[in-house]
Amino acid sequence: MTRVLEGKVAVITGAAGAIGTVTARLLAERGAAVFAVDIPGTDWSRFKAALPDGTRLVTAEADVTDEASVKAYVDKARTELGRIDVFFNNAGIEGPVQPIENYPLDGFMKVLNVNVAGVFLGLKHVLPVMYAQGSGSVINTSSVAGLIGSPGMAGYNTSKHAVIGITRVAAVEAAPRGVRVNCVNPGPIESRMMQSINSGQDADAKAAHDATAGAVPAKRYGKPEEVAGLVAFLASDDAAYCNGGFYTVDGALSAT
Ligand SMILES: NC(=O)c1ccc[n+]([C@@H]2O[C@H](COP(=O)([O-])OP(=O)(O)OC[C@H]3O[C@@H](n4cnc5c(N)ncnc54)[C@H](O)[C@@H]3O)[C@@H](O)[C@H]2O)c1
Repeated sequence: MTRVLEGKVAVITGAAGAIGTVTARLLAERGAAVFAVDIPGTDWSRFKAALPDGTRLVTAEADVTDEASVKAYVDKARTELGRIDVFFNNAGIEGPVQPIENYPLDGFMKVLNVNVAGVFLGLKHVLPVMYAQGSGSVINTSSVAGLIGSPGMAGYNTSKHAVIGITRVAAVEAAPRGVRVNCVNPGPIESRMMQSINSGQDADAKAAHDATAGAVPAKRYGKPEEVAGLVAFLASDDAAYCNGGFYTVDGALSAT
């Protein structure tokens, strides 16, 4: 394993979740120190057990929708690890699964708050740190849901389309200052989040899982590791000219 991220500091939100944990492990394997952020009350035991021995790790508990908490974790990252080279702006929620005529407004606003305002606040407070360094790579987590329409997923799909929009704005602002901002668009990944969505789609969650997998040209769900590999590439200097883009990792689902 090449340690192409040796000496770099990676801040990851939604770190204790399925994709966050596996991505933290891969970035650490490639040499990065990890600053892991998740919601107050997080049980970090599974996350910590996943990291390679000797990983330099700091954890922080913050709600990404609360600006004071976001500012506080960014300050803590700078104080304890000195810099921020990689920002995996990844925390997100799935929200309700309902057709629009039944979709509750409070659920819609909550998804936009976490998935859009949360991403915005992360950018707002991390980008100045990267600007001061003259370098950095941000990877926002969008979704295949940012590219297509999924029935029952009005809040989530709207939020993930918005992540592509804010990625483009941020990249255009950041590129002249030496900073890159991209987003990743995973398809269905074997995870708690997809189990929750599948349960909302059909009382028989296994039937919903199999129908979704069948609609993917690759005929399967992805693995968190397959998202992590793309994030690690975008985090690295190998992606030095990748800026403002969205990158699918979806078994060709969005190509159908
Ligand atoms: N699982 C999939 O199939 C899939 C597909 C495409 C995109 N995504 C996106 O990938 C990202 C990670 O998803 P995952 O599958 O790991 O889900 P997950 O639920 O396992 O992880 C999400 C993490 O975000 C944290 N979080 C939620 N709200 C938060 C808040 N307000 N403040 C701080 N932390 C908060 C949760 O505590 C959780 O640990 C999300 O943005 C999700 O929308 C997931």
